[in-house]
Amino acid sequence: MLSKRDRLYQAAEALQALRCPVCGGDMTRAGDDFACGRGHRVNVNRRGCLNFLSQPVEGCYDAALFQARRRVFAAGCYRTVADAVEQLLSPGPQSLLDAGCGDGWYLNELLTRHPDWQGAGVDISRDAILQATDQLCTALWCVGDLRRLPFRDGAFTAVLDILTPASYEEFRRVLRPGGRLIKVYPGSGYLRELRAARNMPPYAEGQVEDYLREKAQVLSEIRVTRTLPVTPALWRDFVWMTPLNQDLTADGKEQLALRPSDTVTVDLHVAAVTLNARD
Ligand SMILES: C[S@@+](CC[C@H](N)C(=O)[O-])C[C@H]1O[C@@H](n2cnc3c(N)ncnc32)[C@H](O)[C@@H]1O
Ligand SMILES: [Zn+2]
Repeated sequence: MLSKRDRLYQAAEALQALRCPVCGGDMTRAGDDFACGRGHRVNVNRRGCLNFLSQPVEGCYDAALFQARRRVFAAGCYRTVADAVEQLLSPGPQSLLDAGCGDGWYLNELLTRHPDWQGAGVDISRDAILQATDQLCTALWCVGDLRRLPFRDGAFTAVLDILTPASYEEFRRVLRPGGRLIKVYPGSGYLRELRAARNMPPYAEGQVEDYLREKAQVLSEIRVTRTLPVTPALWRDFVWMTPLNQDLTADGKEQLALRPSDTVTVDLHVAAVTLNARD
């Protein structure tokens, strides 16, 4: 079996997508690392990822959140969302960029279903990417900022932006002409049991959609709405996996975990769009 580093080299070779963050030149393999023609280098981490951030970004997304997310994904709670994403991609082999990929579950799922597809995942959280590299697919995992993507113009057939902030200019730049953005954003029922347990009103729809419609033409959309039965253990994982609860201390999260609902609702819009030409 290939090592994590070898899988990264293989993915980089297949995609030919890396761009120097300093000068914008193409980056190719140089010994163990990658370098551009001007000699700017990016190291390949022993755990099979590239780091494009000059310093780590502290955020609310820590290792505990991604570990809980992994268990929720493993329980199959988001499989129908992956199905919808797959259905909305254009026909034929894909080179995918998962922007703000978190622990990379969606990209791994799609590349496992389609071994002839290529993919890269980028996230600003190192904890997230280190979990992503644990998965078995061959993908180019990068710690980086989706507002300054380390990829060439037109490198991807599709960009996935799943519950993550968007950078439409950058997405347009790295998409091939005619490429699709698959945008996943919450519907009003999303995690309603968790919101209710915290006396939060349902998620207010509108803002993301209005902005998306300003920037893009919506080709097609699937609404995934499922109310799932959950065990107390899975409820606890939902409590820990959502950024909704990141204002709570660990104790606060455990208190919430002790008041389980027996269902959790996943209600998401999955939209395939083409981005408007730059205005
Ligand atoms: C709610 S999580 C969603 C993760 C993943 N797409 C999923 O659905 O499981 C949002 C993700 O966006 C990432 N993120 C936020 N701002 C980012 C940025 N500027 N560049 C790259 N990733 C970012 C976070 O680190 C986090 O992993
Ligand atoms: Zn360079």
